Order: sequence, then structure tokens, then C-alpha cells
Amino acid sequence: MTRTQVGIIGAGPAGLMLSHLLHLAGIDSVILESRSRRAIEETIRAGVLEQSTVDLMVETGVGDRLKREGFLHHGFEFRFEGHGHRIDLAALTGGRSITVYAQHEVLKDLIQARLDAGADIRFDMRDVALHDVATSPRITFTDRDGRAGELACELVGGCDGSYGVSRPAIPHESRRDYLRIYPFGWFGILAEAPPSSDELIYARHERGFALISTRSQEVQRMYFQCDPSDNVDNWSEDRIWDELQTRTEGDGFRLKEGRIFQKNIVPMRSFVCEPMQYGRLFIAGDAAHTVPPTGAKGLNLAVADIFVLARAMERYLKSGADDGLQSYSATALRRIWRAQHFSWWMTSMLHRFEEATEFDRRRQLAELDLVTSSEAAARTVAENYVGLPLT
Ligand code: FAD
Ligand code: DHB
Repeated sequence: MTRTQVGIIGAGPAGLMLSHLLHLAGIDSVILESRSRRAIEETIRAGVLEQSTVDLMVETGVGDRLKREGFLHHGFEFRFEGHGHRIDLAALTGGRSITVYAQHEVLKDLIQARLDAGADIRFDMRDVALHDVATSPRITFTDRDGRAGELACELVGGCDGSYGVSRPAIPHESRRDYLRIYPFGWFGILAEAPPSSDELIYARHERGFALISTRSQEVQRMYFQCDPSDNVDNWSEDRIWDELQTRTEGDGFRLKEGRIFQKNIVPMRSFVCEPMQYGRLFIAGDAAHTVPPTGAKGLNLAVADIFVLARAMERYLKSGADDGLQSYSATALRRIWRAQHFSWWMTSMLHRFEEATEFDRRRQLAELDLVTSSEAAARTVAENYVGLPLT
């Protein structure tokens, strides 16, 4: 049996950032993670960090490599009907911007910082289960040698993503789930090629959405809307490049092609669980909510939850005052629903919906015309895209 102040399930952005912020406040935690360190550090996911995520990483001492290797973007492009239209993030938001830096690089930096500070992170844990979360929590697990273990803690951070064990530990009658499933997914690739554009491109085309992002001068990240039940093996390199070229064509634009070395398909859904707490269990990040990736909000929302939760836990553990913990869910949900709205809006404005009528398509184009020609509308997009300040 191990004792700690905060038991954390999951070493994703939420769990690692929680452990990091608690450590800076002088609070002990133990992280139980089901995957290996290597798997975590190699899984390709998000790429866009909001200004406040970057600021938090820099201010708390885990932003050195991000500052050196991340790409600062002051704008992005909406592309439709064969033309590109720039959204000037910096000009529309008083100088705020986003940084392109891959999620697994954020995870490498957080894991290294935590281990350097002597943290107890247990990778490869199986059968993680929560007990007595309403009163005095315990977490049981099987370690990588097959031995049973137990962790007793005052508080639990449930940071184990969409399919973890934390959310189901909140009894059905004590929570409400809100879910929307989209009838499409994103086909993501990594390609060995130089960048085709200095900024991200969000393209709406009759054949469906496409997104041109980047990772470095040598590696590019791109996505296109697809059938969520499709198989990556149905897509040869030539077919992928044809589809991406078609969806981004116009104004003489051509994507620079190269060897594709990674392909995956992700389904798209919007999900929120309310409240995000039960007794001494507090869920955060994808464990509590999912957004479709179009607004680039998932990782950033996970960090924003943790910013609120870490302070509330610190206050409780140092002074016994539980007001911050009591209001955690309500505080976090305000930002989460704003991000849900933005992510749904970007998704519905840019994707092809099979059931859409000609009226719907015209309305979609009128909406893109609005956000690229009215400064007020463009500012709404820009403010949401760079992210609200952390509160
Ligand atoms: P996770 O990253 O899912 O971490 C949860 C951890 O818990 C995992 O390591 C998992 O192995 C572990 N775990 C699960 N179950 C258990 C268990 N039972 N016991 C112990 N451990 C467990 N977001 C953005 O902000 N910007 C983007 O540009 C962006 N693009 C995306 C593109 C794609 C293709 C995808 C798939 C997602 C994207 N996202 C983006 C979303 C972002 O990746 C997630 O929102 C983010 O990873 C959430 O972090 P988390 O820590 O809450 O959960
Ligand atoms: C990336 C992912 C997103 O979901 C997005 O909206 C923008 C960029 C990326 O992986 O680079």
C-alpha cells in the first residue's frame, strides 16, 4: 500500500500537468498509467497550443524546448471556392497567437520534468480500479510484474481520457452525459515533405474538409474528412495526394508531396459529462469531455481544466477550504461549453454533410463569406481559436 495526497489516473496532458502543478505547490502525487512511456511518447495526436497553454508551460518551467522548437503562427487560412482568406489572429486579438508543437513533444517535456523532480509515475499498470471515492479513496492496480498494488489518497484526479475508468466511477444517477456523434471522421497523415504554406489551412470543398498543418521543415501533418468506418489500407499514397490536392486547389496552390509514413482515422464526437466531480474524485480533460478536432481545443481544454483543479486541490490540502473544489466543475464547464460551441461551429461550417440540401450548402458558404469579410465575425473566430485567458 502506498499513500499520497493526490492519486492521478492517466499520464496524458491532463494527468502530467496536474502532477507538475501540484509538485510546484509542494503537494505529492502518484500517477498510474496503463500504457508504456514509449507508447505515450510516440502516439501522434494534437498539434496546436493556445497562447495560454504555452504561457503556462513557460511560466512553470517546462517550456524551454517548446520555445525553441515550436512554430509561432499569427494567422491561419480559410479556403473555399478556390480561394484562400487569411484570418489575422494577432491583429484581431491584440497580439495573441497559437504555437504548433506536437502533443507527444509536450508529453516528453512533462514526463522528463516530472521524473527529474523525482516523481512516482507508474507506467504499464493494468486493472486500475477506484474504490470509496465518496469518502476515503483507494486505487487498486496490477503492476508490470503482475503484482497487485494499492494507492490510498486524499483526492483523485481522473485524467484517463475518453475510455478510462474514472468517469464510470461517478454513479449514473449522479451525472448526466451529453453526446453528439458526427457522421464522418478525419483521415490523418504525416508526410516527409517541406511545408506547403506558412500557416495552417482549413479548407471547405464539395468533396469534404481538408486541413494542412505542419510539424517541422521536413514533416507535414494533414487531415481530410472521411467515412469513419473506412480503412487506411484502402488509401494508397497517390489516392491520398489526389484527394488533398483536389480539396485545396485554386489560386495556383499546389501541396508539396512526399512519402507518407503514418496514417490513421479518428472518429468525431462532441461529449460532456456533468458534473465533473463526485465526492473526492475530480475528472478532467478527455475523461470529462471530447470535442471534434476542428477547433484544435482538446489538449488546451485539458490544460485549462487542470489549471482550475490544481489550484482548488492546493487550497483544500493546505487550508482545508473546499470552496474551490466544490465549484471546480461549474468553473471548468463554462469554458468547456464555449469550446464545445466553437468546435461544433467550425465543424459544421467546414465539413460536407451527406444530408445537406443545396440551401444548406449556400448557407455554409455565406457563413464562410461572413467570417472572412466582416471584421467582427473574424474576430469572434480569432478570439476563440487563440483561446480564452485562463481564469
Ligand atoms: P489523454 O491524452 O487521452 O490521456 C489519458 C491517458 O490515460 C492516456 O495516456 C491513457 O493511456 C491513460 N489511461 C486510459 N485508461 C486508463 C486506465 N484505465 N488506467 C490508467 N491509465 C489509463 N487537441 C488540441 O488541443 N489541439 C489539436 O490540434 C488537437 N488535434 C487532435 C488531433 C487528433 C487526430 C486527435 C485524436 C486529437 C486531437 N486533439 C487536439 C485532442 C487531444 O489530443 C486530447 O484532447 C488530449 O489528448 C486530452 O488529454 P487528456 O490528458 O485528457 O487525455
Ligand atoms: C492539428 C490538429 C487539429 O485538430 C487542428 O485543428 C489543427 C492542427 C495538428 O495536428 O496539427
